[in-house]
Amino acid sequence: MKTIAVLGSTGSIGTNTLDVVRGNRHLYQVYSLVAGHNIEILTAQILEFRPKLAVVATAEGVNLLTASLEASGLPRAEWPQLGWGDKGYLDAVREPQVDTVISAIVGVAGLEATYEAVCLGKRVGLANKEVLVSGGSLVMEAVRRHGSELLPVDSEHNGAHQCLRAGNRDQVSKLILTASGGPFRKTPIRDLAFVTPAQALNHPTWKMGNRITIDCATLMNKGFEVIEACWLFDFAPSQVEVVVHPQSTVHAMIEYTDGSVLAQICATDMRMPIQYALTYPDRAEAPVPKIDWSKAREWEFMPPDFAKFPLLKVAYQCLETGGSATCTLNAADEIAVEAFLQGSVGYLSISEIVQETLSRVPCRTPRSVGDILEVDRESRACARELVKARAAGTVTA
Ligand SMILES: NC(=O)c1ccc[n+]([C@@H]2O[C@H](COP(=O)([O-])OP(=O)(O)OC[C@H]3O[C@@H](n4cnc5c(N)ncnc54)[C@H](OP(=O)(O)O)[C@@H]3O)[C@@H](O)[C@H]2O)c1
Repeated sequence: MKTIAVLGSTGSIGTNTLDVVRGNRHLYQVYSLVAGHNIEILTAQILEFRPKLAVVATAEGVNLLTASLEASGLPRAEWPQLGWGDKGYLDAVREPQVDTVISAIVGVAGLEATYEAVCLGKRVGLANKEVLVSGGSLVMEAVRRHGSELLPVDSEHNGAHQCLRAGNRDQVSKLILTASGGPFRKTPIRDLAFVTPAQALNHPTWKMGNRITIDCATLMNKGFEVIEACWLFDFAPSQVEVVVHPQSTVHAMIEYTDGSVLAQICATDMRMPIQYALTYPDRAEAPVPKIDWSKAREWEFMPPDFAKFPLLKVAYQCLETGGSATCTLNAADEIAVEAFLQGSVGYLSISEIVQETLSRVPCRTPRSVGDILEVDRESRACARELVKARAAGTVTA
């Protein structure tokens, strides 16, 4: 039986993870649940999965969770231990009983606990892409040093992981990551200045958290995935190609040196890669719709429009720059996306704020989680200033 810690249990990946657990209670037990602020969902998860530890983002959240558990009627003797903040996140993964950690907090808030799990040699199912985008060098060095297993949950990387099992790594020439193209694939470039958060949140194929959904609309998400893939599978940026595939059914392809291309194909359902990260190297029945091959279907593939989606190109440039550039890229994007969702800046300002932040924050070589968090803080502060200038109308976008 696997004993699991779920970082980000109340989010899209977290709830899907618990759905996989729900279907296989004889295989998995939940040791710890880590949430941010959603006390209602966390309380329901505690009542159903009975973890030993439940963690929220703030001390105030612990008070709210205490009140919620009291109201639920669960006898105190059956309550989990309650924790909060960074120490709580670390406690959630440190318990020796925990052998598998699903890392699904959004943003760098999940970096330290994920790094700790890697350093403790645990299996980590990695959904939180900011971990490798911000701290790829440090995290992968720790994976090698501690012999931990880092299994990608992101569907494209999970697909690549599966395709790579079919051949020798030194006979691989290229990784092809597919992108849905987002809600603005067919929007003329001149209309992008007027798109709204509601339109940007209307993803054509996936239901995900707000940040990643906006990142899909700008193709920043695909840029993050290119960065993540280079770290995970040791590819040079030039070996990772992005192809727009609006049906999101082929998740990734690996081209071998003889020109043969292997694809991983699956319905758009995150429970498949989540379960793979739990069962690897085995497979098991998954609660995922199977593709009906008796029905005719068309799958399209086309190159991305780098002029319309400049952040994809910026991601490649940051990879080439190296050091802390990708950390700044992530931090600036998070602030710009937040400002767009709040209506403080327009859609086009997202890429402008990101590029301006990159030009202002000096690039260096982070050597610890503390160094990465310092670059992250500095980059956010810079991006916030740029948002403020735009919101005040001193910059037109
Ligand atoms: N959704 C997908 O299909 C998908 C696919 C590939 C990769 N990913 C990646 O997986 C990660 C999670 O994505 P998601 O779509 O599941 O996001 P989401 O639905 O927004 O969920 C984010 C989770 O993180 C928690 N959280 C946020 N800030 C926190 C903090 N400071 N401390 C502790 N917990 C915090 C949230 O808690 P509360 O809700 O309780 O505040 C929630 O549980 C992201 O990095 C995303 O890029 C997602």
